[in-house]
Amino acid sequence: MSDQTGIQAGQPSARQTNAMHEDAPEFAREVWNTRLGFVLAAVGSAVGLGNMWRFPYITSEYGGAAFVVLYILMTFVIGIPVLLAEFTIGRRARQSSVGALRAAGGRPWVPLGYLFVLTGMLILAFYSVIAGWVTRYALVALFTGFPEDTGAYFSSIASGIPAMGFHLFTMAVTIAIVMGGVEKGIERASFVMMPILFLVVVGLAVWAATLQGSGEGYAFYLTPRLEELFSARTIAAAAGQAFFSLSLGMGAMLTFASYLSKKENLPREATVIAFTDFGVAFTAGLVVFPVIFALGLQGAVGESTVGALFISLPGAFVSMGPVGRVVGALFFIALFIGAITSAISLLEVVVAALIDEWKFSRKPAAVGAGTIIALIGLWPAADTNALGFLDAVTNNIFLPLGSLFLAVLVGWLLKNPLEEVTRNTSERIRPLLIGWLWILRVVAPILLVFVLYTSLPIVADAFRALTGR
Ligand code: PHE
Repeated sequence: MSDQTGIQAGQPSARQTNAMHEDAPEFAREVWNTRLGFVLAAVGSAVGLGNMWRFPYITSEYGGAAFVVLYILMTFVIGIPVLLAEFTIGRRARQSSVGALRAAGGRPWVPLGYLFVLTGMLILAFYSVIAGWVTRYALVALFTGFPEDTGAYFSSIASGIPAMGFHLFTMAVTIAIVMGGVEKGIERASFVMMPILFLVVVGLAVWAATLQGSGEGYAFYLTPRLEELFSARTIAAAAGQAFFSLSLGMGAMLTFASYLSKKENLPREATVIAFTDFGVAFTAGLVVFPVIFALGLQGAVGESTVGALFISLPGAFVSMGPVGRVVGALFFIALFIGAITSAISLLEVVVAALIDEWKFSRKPAAVGAGTIIALIGLWPAADTNALGFLDAVTNNIFLPLGSLFLAVLVGWLLKNPLEEVTRNTSERIRPLLIGWLWILRVVAPILLVFVLYTSLPIVADAFRALTGR
């Protein structure tokens, strides 16, 4: 722990005086310029392919509204607490995930920090391939319109050279933003892009409500059948989706919080971010389901996993003529924004560790790490089974495992965790924060072990698909 050294040498270092110079730059570590900038960047990380692509297809795979109920429960009961745990560790240490975990739990926790870095690299490697498809779709919708046979079209662009080109393009954009730094790169990009995304998604949901035959879509999405609430697989899938969507378990939120001033109210920010993330996912469902059901395409969403939305939605857009062109372009532009703002948070986990632990400067760190990830991504770009495998391993093993360790660390091992989270909060929420600790101590670990156990077959399936056995 080195945060008492440097500029403040010679001053009293007692706790009480900390508040005075906490915002003094420590070795010029970067900070967010505004509170809103941080919130938008964190929401940018959370909102992405997970909300607008994964959420609708997972929802339909697990039977619709019952899944939505479980997802809400997971987001608010377990998601917010783990998010707050990441914020706590990150802001407390003001270090990348490696240094922050070292500061929180000592040397034995350093490997977990590197696991986070590895997870960030692997997720970004395949995430960027999907973001590449999105980029292509946005351009096609805008300039030529989708071809009639969207299934054949998707197969022709999903892997191989076409996929690689767009994947490399996405990586280049991501690297360029992260090179700009926390304030001038990430914060500024989120500031410009996220409001556009919100407007487009809400606008599309309003438009979807005007479609003939949308009612069935809403019914599927919004009327839960109670018996489905108790399926183990559905519960595990809902938890996995909540964690992935909130970017939890690999240090992205931790890293973003490390650039936060001690003035911010962490429980409030965690709540705002989780609500917004949920809001966007929910609204995206209000777009996708009415569209799909209005056009009688419901079979197509649940059928294939990875490709679902890339086949059925454009299919719907094609059949709508010129309106479909506009709506399709808007949908994929919003998805592109979501994907890029998430991709930058993934790269930042790696870059922050290179800067803090290995004393790189930002630009070479961003270019170097970004290039390596771009190269790894050629594999999932060449082979959709590899993509499915990376997705399964990271989402079903690395993220729940990371979240499990974080919950245990903050719940049981961190000294005085309430000190960091109660800064600038009102006394009244103290009982809630005690509840938070108990969720981290007991509820989250039990649930996460259950999630890990239940999702092992998913990983095994993905591995079999990859090796062709
Ligand atoms: N939360 C992002 C999404 O929903 C994905 C992500 C996961 C981003 C983990 C960063 C870290 O698309």
